[in-house]
Amino acid sequence: MRVKIVDLTLRDGHQSLLATRMRTRDMLPILETFDNAGIYCLEVWGGATFDSAHRFLNENPWERLKKIRETVKNTQISMLLRGQNIVGYRHYSDDVVEKFVEKTAEYGLDIFRIFDALNDVRNLLTAIKTAKRCGAHVQGTICYTISPVHTIERYVEIAREFAELEVDSICVKDMAGLLSPKVSYELVKALKKEIGLPIDVHSHYTSGMASMALLKGVEAGAEMVDTCMSPLSMGTSHPPTESIAYALNEMGYNTGVDLDILIEVRNYFMKIREKYSGYINPISTIPDTSVLVYQIPGGMFSNLIAQLKEQNALDRLSEVLKEVPRVREDLGYVPLVTPTSQIVGVQAVLNVLTGERYKVVPKETKDLVRGMYGRTPAPIREEIIRLILGDERPIECRPADLIEPEFEKRRRELEELGIDANDENVLIYALFPQTGLKFLQGEIQEEAFPSSVASVEGKFEVEVDGSKYKVDVRPI
Ligand code: CO
Repeated sequence: MRVKIVDLTLRDGHQSLLATRMRTRDMLPILETFDNAGIYCLEVWGGATFDSAHRFLNENPWERLKKIRETVKNTQISMLLRGQNIVGYRHYSDDVVEKFVEKTAEYGLDIFRIFDALNDVRNLLTAIKTAKRCGAHVQGTICYTISPVHTIERYVEIAREFAELEVDSICVKDMAGLLSPKVSYELVKALKKEIGLPIDVHSHYTSGMASMALLKGVEAGAEMVDTCMSPLSMGTSHPPTESIAYALNEMGYNTGVDLDILIEVRNYFMKIREKYSGYINPISTIPDTSVLVYQIPGGMFSNLIAQLKEQNALDRLSEVLKEVPRVREDLGYVPLVTPTSQIVGVQAVLNVLTGERYKVVPKETKDLVRGMYGRTPAPIREEIIRLILGDERPIECRPADLIEPEFEKRRRELEELGIDANDENVLIYALFPQTGLKFLQGEIQEEAFPSSVASVEGKFEVEVDGSKYKVDVRPI
């Protein structure tokens, strides 16, 4: 049986360990060799790379994609698309989603991995339909988390919704490293039996279980596994490509990967790791097993501590840790990943510090209850809706139904500013009106390489109730 290796070094790998800062010029020299290593697919684009490239590196993300496609000829290339959020942090209008997917397909991208953090398939409809229309391979993605409502049956239901949309494969995306080997086996087994589509297992090493989750997933019938080249593996990243390929080959699963060629790729990325070492937070390189006990990801944990410190209330930490699961339950068991981990965390802190639950409610919590992020995994109880929204009712429709078309409006705005309003530029501006415009006006400079991680921290920020919180959990 063939098991295909999907290598994520050039997207998730550096997003997980190097704050998404790898420059295109540091990717290109190894691509030709990498392309000949028998890897099935290289994930090279999307996620936070579009934001990071233009904001911090003064790089045009479209140029990166073009250059990569020019060099990678034998291997599929893929991206991570956040459904209606595209590669940004809010919902965009359908015409922007359509244009983005069409343009990306035009640039030669093969596989679109499309997800929504709440697993609300309505938030994926436009992206999936457009990518299918463009003839691309669409991977419907299930975000894995743990809660009483996140059962195997529920995941199978979500996969069935994907199958009805004629996706080409299913990805089990374990962004917080919570997927145990046992559950991985049971989940993949159920998906294979009930749905039958090819399965790809994506598991972060955060809690130290990812290699086991991948292997058990393969034993249950998964055809694809996600890995990163060893120099950018482990920690909050993924199992090492070489080790997984070796183990699978030995067990009789043919990966088609040439380990001799990968040695050369490894040597190259060792130098890259060295060069980018200032971006590496040592904490994210070792397993965070507390997540297995508290169900709170390490990054969220340190965010909570930072918030409490700011309020001189570190002594309330144990109360806050008890409050987090209660808030999560109140808010429909949202997964604890960006941005919902910040929303749950800030609300838990406020509930404890004000001494009255939901006395102070930030706009982001209200929007979540209003349905502006989509349907929560479990319905929110009526009493909580009343407490947070008063007489206002949550929306029933798909959030993007409320968004006016934006693309042509953004194009006109660029024209008025005298900036070349080609589709690529309009998309940069439509997705990131502030930093995108600065980039297009030539006002961004490539940041210097940091001497230590301290000078990188806090650059990815999430705004909640007017306060900015740094995102330790790398945006997915
Ligand atoms: Co990931």
